[in-house]
Amino acid sequence: MRVLVTGSSKGIGKAISERFLKEGHEVIGFDLLPASINHPLYKHYVLDISKKKNLPSLEGIEIIINNAGKQNDNDITNNLVGSMNVTEKYAFQPSIKAVLFNASASAHSGFEFPEYVASKAGLIGYMKNVAVRLAEYGATANSISLGGVLTDSNAPVLENEECWNEIMDATPLKKWATLEEVCDWIYFLTIVNKSASGQDVLIDNGEYNLNSTFVWPKR
Ligand SMILES: NC(=O)c1ccc[n+]([C@@H]2O[C@H](COP(=O)([O-])OP(=O)(O)OC[C@H]3O[C@@H](n4cnc5c(N)ncnc54)[C@H](O)[C@@H]3O)[C@@H](O)[C@H]2O)c1
Repeated sequence: MRVLVTGSSKGIGKAISERFLKEGHEVIGFDLLPASINHPLYKHYVLDISKKKNLPSLEGIEIIINNAGKQNDNDITNNLVGSMNVTEKYAFQPSIKAVLFNASASAHSGFEFPEYVASKAGLIGYMKNVAVRLAEYGATANSISLGGVLTDSNAPVLENEECWNEIMDATPLKKWATLEEVCDWIYFLTIVNKSASGQDVLIDNGEYNLNSTFVWPKR
């Protein structure tokens, strides 16, 4: 497959690019930063996805992983508008098989920073619109809404014992997702999956759904 990954120089984007490469796929990476992958099937573009005119002409993209994102730095422009620019330019053509958006558990809970939440909730709505329009190509569009992931971008809380203990108190499964597990989800939803479309998968170790309470008088 010919796979386009945004935000491929670090974290989740780098890890999923490496997974696709390991499985023998061709990967085209977009990032503000230089390439951090050296592989014969990998081609890198240094660019800002929020600037539509920067996007190069690319033929026959089959899978798009809209992963690039920022927090507290023009989030709606980078996370939402950037992903829309990429999807509108490369998805609606006969080679397309699957489009995946990296949203966030915060789009469900409303917690985290205002513009970040709005950008990620916007992505889930846009994902559904893309799924409707991609159906005529026989292609799927889905999103993942991750809670905490063990990435460098989370160092401020991973390396702060007080914050980490507080987070674990609110996390029923008492752990965060590994990069390997996130890659398994993305790979499954884009390569294995052929029938689920227009869906968001919440992957947050139970933080959102399992924290409700049921109050009833004791006998
Ligand atoms: N790490 C987590 O716990 C977590 C949880 C929920 C959602 N997410 C989402 O997953 C995605 C990746 O997270 P990460 O932790 O790997 O982040 P990261 O900061 O390690 O990597 C993001 C990459 O995207 C690139 N990028 C950002 N804006 C860009 C733009 N406008 N154009 C081109 N490249 C751009 C950055 O340069 C960087 O290399 C983000 O969208 C983030 O919101 C992460």
